[in-house]
Amino acid sequence: MIKKRIIESVSKKSKRFSPSKIFRENAHIKSFEEYLKLYQESIENPDLFWAKQAEELDWFKKWDKVSSWKKTKLECKWFEGGKINISYNCLDRHLDSRGNKTALIWEPEVGKAKKYTYKELHKVVCRFSNVLKKYGVKKGDRVCFYMPMIPELTIGMLACVRLGAIHSVVFGGFSIESLKDRIIDSKAKILITSNASLRKGKSIPMKNNVDAILGDCKSLKKVVVVKRADDIDTFMKKGRDVWWHKEVDSNNIDDFCKAKEIDSEHPAFILYTSGTTGKPKGVVHSTAGYLMYTYLTFKYVFDYKEEDIFWCTADIGWITGHSYIVYGPLANGATTIMFEGVPTYPNPDRYWEIVDKYKVSVFYTAPTVVRALERFGKKWVEKHDLSSLRLLGSVGEPINPDAWMWYHQVIGKGKCPIVDTWWQTETGGILITPLPGAVDLKPGSACFPFFGVKASVLTEEGQKAKKGEGGYLVIEKPWPSMLRTVYKNPKRFKDTYFNKFPGMYFTNDGVKCDEDGYFWIMGRMDDVVNVSGHRLSTAEVEGALVSHGSVTEAAVVPMPHKIKGSALYAFVTLKKGLSGGIDLISELRNHVGFEIGPIAKPDRIQFTNELPKTRSGKIMRRILKAIAAGKEDVGNTMTLANPEVVKKLKKERLPL
Ligand code: PRX
Repeated sequence: MIKKRIIESVSKKSKRFSPSKIFRENAHIKSFEEYLKLYQESIENPDLFWAKQAEELDWFKKWDKVSSWKKTKLECKWFEGGKINISYNCLDRHLDSRGNKTALIWEPEVGKAKKYTYKELHKVVCRFSNVLKKYGVKKGDRVCFYMPMIPELTIGMLACVRLGAIHSVVFGGFSIESLKDRIIDSKAKILITSNASLRKGKSIPMKNNVDAILGDCKSLKKVVVVKRADDIDTFMKKGRDVWWHKEVDSNNIDDFCKAKEIDSEHPAFILYTSGTTGKPKGVVHSTAGYLMYTYLTFKYVFDYKEEDIFWCTADIGWITGHSYIVYGPLANGATTIMFEGVPTYPNPDRYWEIVDKYKVSVFYTAPTVVRALERFGKKWVEKHDLSSLRLLGSVGEPINPDAWMWYHQVIGKGKCPIVDTWWQTETGGILITPLPGAVDLKPGSACFPFFGVKASVLTEEGQKAKKGEGGYLVIEKPWPSMLRTVYKNPKRFKDTYFNKFPGMYFTNDGVKCDEDGYFWIMGRMDDVVNVSGHRLSTAEVEGALVSHGSVTEAAVVPMPHKIKGSALYAFVTLKKGLSGGIDLISELRNHVGFEIGPIAKPDRIQFTNELPKTRSGKIMRRILKAIAAGKEDVGNTMTLANPEVVKKLKKERLPL
């Protein structure tokens, strides 16, 4: 039925881009019919489908049961009874067939690159696992990472999962306050950090800053410090702080560490992410299901070939880096690139230089990067040979058709399909995406669900939306890499994801499906904002503003931004007697930077004596959002207790 409907509608052609004949012929999935056939199998007989796929991984013991879903308990299990190890699947199993193949290429911001073959990566991961063991790290212990994009981050993560220790990577751009909250919440035993991070050729101290919060992190027993820069005087507390290189290179450390047999459902990692309210939540991912899903999506979405050089430009501090720099590629035996720097330093052709240098064949980035680089013009692209590229990817936010076209024409020279991949921290891997050899692309659409993903568009009342009608994106049934819970907070897990439409995973994204069955993601329906592809909670930024001594109230809303997609706009009321000026704006921005991290600094802060509120005192964010966006019509103001404030706010609005 689904098949018939989609095939019929697909033949009613609109503006679309088909893969070339050569691409199609060489792809894993070569036609839309083939995709549909497999998709249908995966939906109608999921256990059979996933059991077949799972045979491609290496198991210590095969599963007893492929999947189970107890809706009332919200308990989902995949490959129950099985024993497996992520690190083993990413490293050991490749040693015979591709031991000398490059696994990881690390491109530093400046200086000499490093390459690790599978054999070399295996050895250094084993050695670090042995270091962790020496410090008493056992299965289930939490290990926190606060690092720049250096190889030790990948090595450390693989070392953790080798032992069944649960890693919690905190994005290096978050503040130390954010780091503290995450260490305390997860009760991490070990922190792994760096003495410095590099930005625009300069070393910026990291470990010395972290010292300020370590006293509050009672669970921490050890801090392992990577020496990224020699020009920083790093304080090391005796008995607590140790150098990575001294530990790993020590003669007492063995080259081999046996990968532990881990239960399928054992948590592999926690990754904190922003939600609508309160503190960030610890999204918990499993072992076998997560590995299975990232392995398979990497293979099919990026149409992976043994000779590919794959580059995902994300930071490993976000889920994209976890799944598609580290686990997905390595589970497939691919060569994956990790880049420390930024796209515009020393020049806006840094990315294209890297593509040329390593002959990257598959390139995966965010729309904000595409827009930012487009601004500098074609000349930077044309300096380099990008002919190695065969496939491009996009993630993190909707890609506007203009940026899509530039990406397609100027970067992909009109020959590379673009996979616009929709997913979330919680989903672990890509859920909605074109398969590049099988699907005709429509710029701006994430196209179709991946195998096993039953995606639907529901109205507020929970009815299936009509074609073209906007609604909520839900996933009707669990898929292998669905988050298992919110760390130590099952209630939040239930309330956030399964309450709105009981038993179905609620994505919090708006979507519509067109007459051809293509999915068009419209963005978040809650108070989460994607700023330059970074997920932030407006409530958290409001909390940070209010924690400043001069602020009484704050309302933060997204405003459209040409490069970032969305920017943050803050409306702030000050304590009696205070007046806002440029100095206070910069102080407040810095304060938010201190509390959360520089990425959360609002682009605009507008001071006001009052915020528009309902009679029950609720701030009307809908109206503020319209004002920030510069809309003339801000919608119904009838329910406001103070409608007169709207006119004033509109008049004093700060344009971007
Ligand atoms: O709103 C969607 C947007 O990013 C959100 C998830 O953010 P995060 O958990 O940080 O994960 C980002 C990378 C996987 C989603 O709820 N989003 C992600 N990909 C797309 C997207 N919006 C539109 N199109 C996409 N391809």
